[in-house]
Amino acid sequence: MITIKSERELELMRHAGMLVSKMHKFIKPYIKAGITTKELDKLCEDFILKNDAVPSCKGYEGFPATLCTSVNDTVVHGIPDNYKLKDGDIITIDVVIGYKGYQGDAAWTYAVGEIDDDKKYLMEHTEKALYEGIKEVKPGNRIGDISAAVQKYAESHNLGVVHELCGHGIGRDMHEDPEVPNFGIENTGPRLKPGMVICIEPMLTFGKRYVYQLDDDWTVKTEDGEPAAHYEHTVLVTDDGYEIFTPRLD
Ligand code: CO
Repeated sequence: MITIKSERELELMRHAGMLVSKMHKFIKPYIKAGITTKELDKLCEDFILKNDAVPSCKGYEGFPATLCTSVNDTVVHGIPDNYKLKDGDIITIDVVIGYKGYQGDAAWTYAVGEIDDDKKYLMEHTEKALYEGIKEVKPGNRIGDISAAVQKYAESHNLGVVHELCGHGIGRDMHEDPEVPNFGIENTGPRLKPGMVICIEPMLTFGKRYVYQLDDDWTVKTEDGEPAAHYEHTVLVTDDGYEIFTPRLD
């Protein structure tokens, strides 16, 4: 069931989304060679708790941490550990924050020091693919319009679209209806209505689109070992378009 949020609910979701944005801004200067992903996780957990909010991933279906930290060929759901970032890595930080029962969710990929041109290309065009999807958000359009726009942009830039994972509705729960795939057909799927809130989150690969999961039941990696990037916003359908609840503050 796709829910329409009330004004009161939207205020809480705006706040949750702004905390997500602020946390990304807070952690960015720490993303440097030598720091471990576990240290990043601890810094973010403390930040969230200090803001009277909840790290919603921690304990969700047994996920053990506040952040998903996904380095290089890890696409999503990397578990923070003792890996030390090194120059030339890219790392996606994905977080869900709860505030008074409502969730905000955003991911972006960061460069560690100087990265090569392939990784720059991948990051730039994955973020642009996200905005191509967001441009389709308005009442009357359908989920398939978002999916098709993301796919078209990604594939025309020779990037792989991961099919196994998708965006989602969000509200009291981090994952609500509808599913928001990153590939699909225009003018299909549920119709967008004012008051719906969805997460759009292209996960694109520099090589082939195929992925596999590690034995930890979380970490998803590219099969060919090429890097992946992931950008995600929480987006409200407004009367005449959209509002991004998780704006970039950097
Ligand atoms: Co999400």
